[in-house]
Amino acid sequence: MLCGICFIFNKTNKYYMLNKIVNIAKEAGQLIRENFRTNFEVEFKTSETNLVTAIDKKSEKLIIEYINKEFPGHKVLAEESGGEYKSADYLWVIDPIDGTNNYAHGLPIFCVSIGVQKAGDTIYGVVYDVMRDAVYHAEKGGGAYCNSRKMKVSKNDKMGRSLLVTGFPYEVATKNPEHILKIFSSFMLASRGLRRLGSAALDMCYVADGVFDGYWESFLYPWDMCAGQLLVQEAGGLVTDFNGNKRDIFGENIIASNGRVHGQMLDIVNS
Ligand code: IPD
Ligand code: CA
Ligand code: CA
Repeated sequence: MLCGICFIFNKTNKYYMLNKIVNIAKEAGQLIRENFRTNFEVEFKTSETNLVTAIDKKSEKLIIEYINKEFPGHKVLAEESGGEYKSADYLWVIDPIDGTNNYAHGLPIFCVSIGVQKAGDTIYGVVYDVMRDAVYHAEKGGGAYCNSRKMKVSKNDKMGRSLLVTGFPYEVATKNPEHILKIFSSFMLASRGLRRLGSAALDMCYVADGVFDGYWESFLYPWDMCAGQLLVQEAGGLVTDFNGNKRDIFGENIIASNGRVHGQMLDIVNS
């Protein structure tokens, strides 16, 4: 667990690396917060729906420079500059702003997401909710926390009492939108309510924290969910692909739930 005294470490301390990840996530968060609703440059990536701002790029540069300085030899996979797609000894998987569309429009729901893998296994996950100043963090085998509070997934086992969250890919028109809408309407009819926040990493933090009972999405990238997946698992939840199989960070489809409604969610995505 991360706490005040844990900030005094040397490299052998098991909290050393987690604290380093939290520090850089917060530093990037400060840059993002200071520039919120200012006149930053916005470019289109593949289409008018897929944006990148100058602040995404600055945030990513800051994080990568920090890794190169503090952990030379570690590899990086980051949304805006790409990088290593294979498993590496240490691989940092970075989304410099998850929720770029929200950020560009002035909606205060976005975060910095950083996962760290060791030989293909995610061992740290940190998601910094910038505007709420909340640090979600997990170390493999060490539980999941929001700041210093331990998180647990919800106990609800009924789809009809579930609050669920999802997201849509940017180029939705090219990605079988009829099928995405069919799944969406099935969940809408079966659950208590659906939300679409616009940040996959925060969606998963809320599953880990017992707010949402489940989350599903298709066509995700590793940086969207590397940290969030570990947070859900460490909070006692379950994360699979749409077939119910264990997924690695390179899989496209994801269901992350409290475990209790997972089977019902699988039935719906496959109905
Ligand atoms: C997006 C967000 C969104 C999800 C999209 C992602 P970005 O990431 O996580 O919630 O629905 O699929 O691409 O582009 O804001 O980093
Ligand atoms: Ca993202
Ligand atoms: Ca992003």
